[in-house]
Amino acid sequence: METVGNAGEQGGVSVIRHPLIQNALAVLRNVDTPTESFRRHARLLTMILAFHVLEDLPVRPVTVQTPLEQVTGEVVDANVIFIPVLRAGLAMLDAMSDMVPGSKVGFVGLERNEETFIARSYYQKLPSHLAGAEVVILDPMLATGGSALATIQLLKEQSATSIRLACVIAAPEGIANLREKHPDVPIFAATVDRELNSRRYILPGIGDFGDRYFGTE
Ligand code: PRP
Ligand code: URA
Repeated sequence: METVGNAGEQGGVSVIRHPLIQNALAVLRNVDTPTESFRRHARLLTMILAFHVLEDLPVRPVTVQTPLEQVTGEVVDANVIFIPVLRAGLAMLDAMSDMVPGSKVGFVGLERNEETFIARSYYQKLPSHLAGAEVVILDPMLATGGSALATIQLLKEQSATSIRLACVIAAPEGIANLREKHPDVPIFAATVDRELNSRRYILPGIGDFGDRYFGTE
């Protein structure tokens, strides 16, 4: 595996190996982690992920007056739109959007049928102009890839031209599905796990991310 700093390419995914991300991931994986700690570490992990997911954002120069003199600074010069996939994607929204003042948020509601594993759409509310925006899908678990594929298709139908996916854990099946159908969408994750079980849960995984984050187990 080729590594650059704390990020490396693993099977088509940018895996962030920052020690603080891996520390947070170990806490999230632990079945004994209580809800409050799970939420806090999900936020910490997402904050560090954000630096890598957004590291190529364009900037423009601005003149800033300090208390002592003028200096040229840089501000983000991009229309950034976050798309949390309900519910679990909400766990990543605050940490990401806090990083980008002026960012917009759209919502996609999808729920996986636990027998067919097919994602059913139940809600969507998107900003009107996706073309030219930097669109970041937030969904902590990439398992079969069904939810991510449905979201990407929806965003492309609404004219999105630059889409990236930020997740916590990616599974080989979901990665392969995305790479085949949407090779233009980069995937960022804290780790690539081994496989899916017969219920299409990621192994070793975290369990049901939404249930653990919202305390609905
Ligand atoms: C989870 C997760 C992803 C999806 C991943 O959502 O948050 O959206 O499963 O699985 P896939 O890659 O096989 O589609 P879930 O359907 O459990 O809904 P929730 O977020 O409301 O808990
Ligand atoms: N969704 C989850 O929350 N966890 C998995 O392991 C797979 C899908």
